[in-house]
Amino acid sequence: MSRVACVKNQFVPLRGAQVSMLDRGYQFADGIYEVVTLWNGRLVDESPHLARMERSLAALEIPMPMSVRAIQIRIRELLRRHRLKNGLVYIQITRGEAMRNHLFTGEMTPIFTMCLLPARFPTSQEKSEGVRVITAPDQRWARCDIKSIALLPNMLTRMASYRAGAKEAWQINAQGNITEGSLSNAYIVRADGVIQTHPADRSILGGIRREMVLKLAKQHGMALIEKPFTLDDVKRATEAFMSSASSFVLPITTVDDITIGNGAVGHVTEKLMTLYEAQVLAIPRVM
Ligand code: PDD
Repeated sequence: MSRVACVKNQFVPLRGAQVSMLDRGYQFADGIYEVVTLWNGRLVDESPHLARMERSLAALEIPMPMSVRAIQIRIRELLRRHRLKNGLVYIQITRGEAMRNHLFTGEMTPIFTMCLLPARFPTSQEKSEGVRVITAPDQRWARCDIKSIALLPNMLTRMASYRAGAKEAWQINAQGNITEGSLSNAYIVRADGVIQTHPADRSILGGIRREMVLKLAKQHGMALIEKPFTLDDVKRATEAFMSSASSFVLPITTVDDITIGNGAVGHVTEKLMTLYEAQVLAIPRVM
């Protein structure tokens, strides 16, 4: 099967799909992206993703290239052309094409591109035994809440974790707080059973899984607190986990050389994994 991309308004073969050298995404990383998971024929949390897309665009004063409804129609067309049940719908919107200039105007026409990427979901071993993450300095800018395509620090940090044989790297900021991973949100479970995660301020990306984890925890009477935590808190934690579009809720059993709790996947994490999977299974199939 050959993959297709949607570039502006046209479906074209992914290999060879092109935008201009003058695209401001290419020149300045002047754009945003979203990653919506296609899992067993279901588009996972599509609406919150598209709502976050609108928020990222608004923060950068980039107009919506088309209505949310029109984007949804194109997503379905993309899926129809692939006939796959699993993947990641990658959407990127840049401010448009213009002669290189730091200044932008409201007249620029945003460029919409989209494709279906292969997904690598966690293995059953990763889910049952948990994964290891390392820690690394948070080298990012002051607006991590915007899902910007400028991902150099995230990329370098993820590369460092890969080279260390770890699944992810938890980023530690100048205050000594763990903000989030290079491409996922970070959580611990304290000895008193409370789930703790960094507040969704400008120093993290407010993940869609994070929204869901917090909602499910509240619905099921699980205690949680949105408050920064440090490596010392990690040492005292009984559980740790991460969440993202492609990992859903994934247990972490080692952080650097610290074994979390008794080294096994904890009850709170297991419960959240089960609750989230059940919620996803309840989504009607599109494929
Ligand atoms: N990453 N934090 C960062 C920095 C992220 O890049 C992501 C998503 C998340 C988790 O957000 P969500 O639950 O909405 O996926 C948190 C995507 C998957 C990526 O860049 O590929």
